[in-house]
Amino acid sequence: MKPLRIALTKGRLEKDTIGLLEKIGYDCSAVRNKGRKLILPVGDNAFEVVLAKAADVITYVEHGVCDLGVVGKDTILENGTRFYEILDLGFGKCCFALAGPKGKDFYAGYRSKTIATKYPKVATSFFEGKAMDVRIIKIEGSVELAPLLGLSDAIVDIVETGSTLRENGLEVIEKVCDISARLIVNTASLKLRKQEIEELVEKINHCIANPQEKQEEAKEAAQ
Ligand code: PRP
Repeated sequence: MKPLRIALTKGRLEKDTIGLLEKIGYDCSAVRNKGRKLILPVGDNAFEVVLAKAADVITYVEHGVCDLGVVGKDTILENGTRFYEILDLGFGKCCFALAGPKGKDFYAGYRSKTIATKYPKVATSFFEGKAMDVRIIKIEGSVELAPLLGLSDAIVDIVETGSTLRENGLEVIEKVCDISARLIVNTASLKLRKQEIEELVEKINHCIANPQEKQEEAKEAAQ
């Protein structure tokens, strides 16, 4: 049978995901030394790893060309749910927040507000929950620029350390929700390859529940 294929989000989540796979005992040297190769073996061909942009991880899992995926809850909230979200991996922790210029009362006045965001669906549903009519402008990156340039009153964006906001004279007005990395599974794969997937999930679960134990085992193995 073909090895299970896992789509991993490139960038912020990449290091922690590879670290997790190594902690549960898989050799990830091919992923660490990937060069320009896009499909990489993990362990003794236990499974294959694909490195992709977050939204593409969801696309590949939804279409079943990857059985599993590791992706942030932010991307899941914005991009879709035609898969099973089976595990909170506990890393990639940050939050969605409404943020705006420091010291300015966002809610003051009756004028309808403009919000810049990379996540229009998340922003729309946040303001619908408040029964507030806002104009949403989609921005692709460095959303913090929009209020600085006078394009928007505020932003809905990811806040991790808060330094991007601080360094640009912005502050959190209100937290929207917490975010972390999730393990997602294609619906058909979960039925057809149930045992393999459950074994992997069990290992990951054990590692998340006993992080110290795994670190010590890894140290011992390295000695
Ligand atoms: C994200 C987010 C913020 C920043 C927050 O952007 O959109 O800009 O990180 O992190 P902080 O609270 O630790 O400063 P990212 O770096 O992913 O790039 P982007 O702005 O190009 O989307």
